[in-house]
Amino acid sequence: MTSTPSLTLRAGLLADLPALLPAAAATFLLTDRHVEPLLGQGWGEIPRLVLVPGESSKSWAQLGDILRALDLAGLNRDGQLVAVGGGVVTDLGGLAASLHRRGIPWVAVPTSLVGQVDAAIGGKTAVNLGSGKNTIGTFHQPTNVLVDPQALRTLAPRHVHAGYAEMLKTALIAGDSLWQSVRALQACTDESDSNREVYEAALCSCVEGCLEVKQALVDRDPFDRGPRRLLNLGHTFGHAFESLALQRSDDELLHGEAVGLGLLCAARLGSLLRPRELSDQESLEDILRERLASWHLPLTSMEVPEDIVRAMRSDKKRQGDTHTVVIARSAGEVSIEEKVPEELLEQALTAVLST
Ligand SMILES: NC(=O)c1ccc[n+]([C@@H]2O[C@H](COP(=O)([O-])OP(=O)(O)OC[C@H]3O[C@@H](n4cnc5c(N)ncnc54)[C@H](O)[C@@H]3O)[C@@H](O)[C@H]2O)c1
Ligand SMILES: [Zn+2]
Repeated sequence: MTSTPSLTLRAGLLADLPALLPAAAATFLLTDRHVEPLLGQGWGEIPRLVLVPGESSKSWAQLGDILRALDLAGLNRDGQLVAVGGGVVTDLGGLAASLHRRGIPWVAVPTSLVGQVDAAIGGKTAVNLGSGKNTIGTFHQPTNVLVDPQALRTLAPRHVHAGYAEMLKTALIAGDSLWQSVRALQACTDESDSNREVYEAALCSCVEGCLEVKQALVDRDPFDRGPRRLLNLGHTFGHAFESLALQRSDDELLHGEAVGLGLLCAARLGSLLRPRELSDQESLEDILRERLASWHLPLTSMEVPEDIVRAMRSDKKRQGDTHTVVIARSAGEVSIEEKVPEELLEQALTAVLST
């Protein structure tokens, strides 16, 4: 399916979700243990599977369990799957929906910030297999994406900040006012009630902006062969950091945190590939570094540059001995570079990790 999903963003919609779902002969709910308590009333006898939270659930084995549960529930092509949760739940739910009975409709209800601005938009579904991230997956657009910004109230600050890194990526691609708004986001703390309204309004408008930018790129290029690839900014490096952490069964590096590191590398690579004239302006890398630090996101890693480059070799976008990487030179000045040699990747990594 490639049609654009219907997008709804409304504070509080999680409470009456069952009433907002499209009509279907049967519905199956997929969620995780942290998100299940946020669900309101009205789910009645709808069968559900509740996952163990976290990246380790995004596995081939877990996918098998979901497919068996869909079969047991007797869901046919006139049924639908509803995935309520972070990127792990929507990636898994979308993949299961694309495989069950050769494809059934599904609804994405992202409840994490990474999910709301990125994972639930665009129809990319996945599980991790072997040493790589998202090695198995399909394109399967949800029929509806239902976003409740209020759901973010219960999200742990660390996950909120990981989401900020994804927003910074989208804003860097878009430039202009979205870049200014995302840069201005404050670190998420226990906001006092008086600040909370202002904070939530700013966050909500950034979520909406990021969501629109991503959906517009997906509409132009649903299968990721052209301009949509800009959204990989920070991800070629980021997935390599993430894969290395996963191989050590180290859940300590979140996807968004890896993307933050990847953005620094993409900016450094940008200045190596296309040096700027010397100017008094702060470099993009410095701006990114300052933002990531203020949001308590990692600025460096224990990984060795050669290992990261090796991990980048399993990236789906690699071509022979060279790599296709998205680089950034300034806000709104982001480009897809083909045939980048590994020496340059290593140079950028060495520079970033030793700063
Ligand atoms: N398909 C795509 O295009 C795409 C894009 C970006 C990321 N991803 C994938 O998404 C995953 C990362 O997403 P994520 O950061 O949402 O991970 P996640 O699904 O693990 O969610 C993060 C944590 O927050 C919890 N949580 C979610 N919503 C909550 C809420 N409202 N209140 C309290 N807790 C809540 C979850 O249970 C989990 O513990 C990665 O696997 C990444 O590869 C996919
Ligand atoms: Zn991402």
